[in-house]
Amino acid sequence: MQELENKVAVVTGGASGIGRGIARALAAAGTHVVVADVEGGPAKAVAAELEQKGIRSLAIDCDVTERASVEALADRAWKEFGRVDLLCNNAGVGAAGPLTETPPHNAEWVFAVNVFGVFNGCSVFVPRMCESGGPGHILNTGSEHSIGIPFAGMGIYTATKHAVLGLSDVLRRELEPVGIGVSILCPGVVRTEIWNAGRNRQEQFGGAQQSPEEFRNFVAEGMDPDEVGRITVAGIRRGDFYILSHPEIRPIVEARYQELLAAFDKQS
Ligand SMILES: NC(=O)c1ccc[n+]([C@@H]2O[C@H](COP(=O)([O-])OP(=O)(O)OC[C@H]3O[C@@H](n4cnc5c(N)ncnc54)[C@H](O)[C@@H]3O)[C@@H](O)[C@H]2O)c1
Repeated sequence: MQELENKVAVVTGGASGIGRGIARALAAAGTHVVVADVEGGPAKAVAAELEQKGIRSLAIDCDVTERASVEALADRAWKEFGRVDLLCNNAGVGAAGPLTETPPHNAEWVFAVNVFGVFNGCSVFVPRMCESGGPGHILNTGSEHSIGIPFAGMGIYTATKHAVLGLSDVLRRELEPVGIGVSILCPGVVRTEIWNAGRNRQEQFGGAQQSPEEFRNFVAEGMDPDEVGRITVAGIRRGDFYILSHPEIRPIVEARYQELLAAFDKQS
């Protein structure tokens, strides 16, 4: 999607971190931005900041795990802007811990946000984008965990980010004939509030929880989320499928595919 000026984007999880970085970079490119998030106050603050750049921006409360909430988001976006050209399915949560010790309700929460949130976004917005006509684009936020060697202690999160890669890769083939491009953003560590994702865990998944401080310290070493936003918008403009913000993760990707190819060699 080369032309971004005067287009309309919806960014889920746009109130914080990478989503806010993407929203800022889009606004700088002249794109009108809907900031969709479960955190209404911060979303409004981001929308107000973006309007200073001379574009239209609107904050809309949305829980991506609830299909009705995503439908209401789409209804409102079309009512206010008449179209949506770019959907960024970015809202996501992290959870750490050994796979077999993960409480089932926590695993369900991470899948609900990271996988069903992306599915809800795509399946609610794409038919409406097709009806509106014209080129469109879907950006799904994956992770280094979508493409590299998995880290121990991140089992459920890794599984969800593999799922985001799988559905994005199929979607790009299904949507090519209708002129909708698909990208997956696969960042390494980014300095965001993901360390404390449990602040938004819904009651049905066990309610809010505080995260350990060491996770905060780990994330604090990461890339500036505004830089990730600029890289992402450049990748969307080029129509890249894989958007790779962290060149240093290349060795974990190479190692993964070398192991796979070596298994073919060994077994043939
Ligand atoms: N920070 C990293 O190191 C990193 C690395 C790779 C990928 N990611 C991915 O980036 C994306 C954004 O995370 P971040 O790091 O910016 O974290 P963040 O916590 O700073 O931002 C996430 C945003 O999503 C919102 N959110 C959470 N649950 C939601 C729900 N059910 N519905 C709607 N909004 C919801 C939060 O309120 C928050 O505003 C996630 O998909 C995450 O998995 C992060």
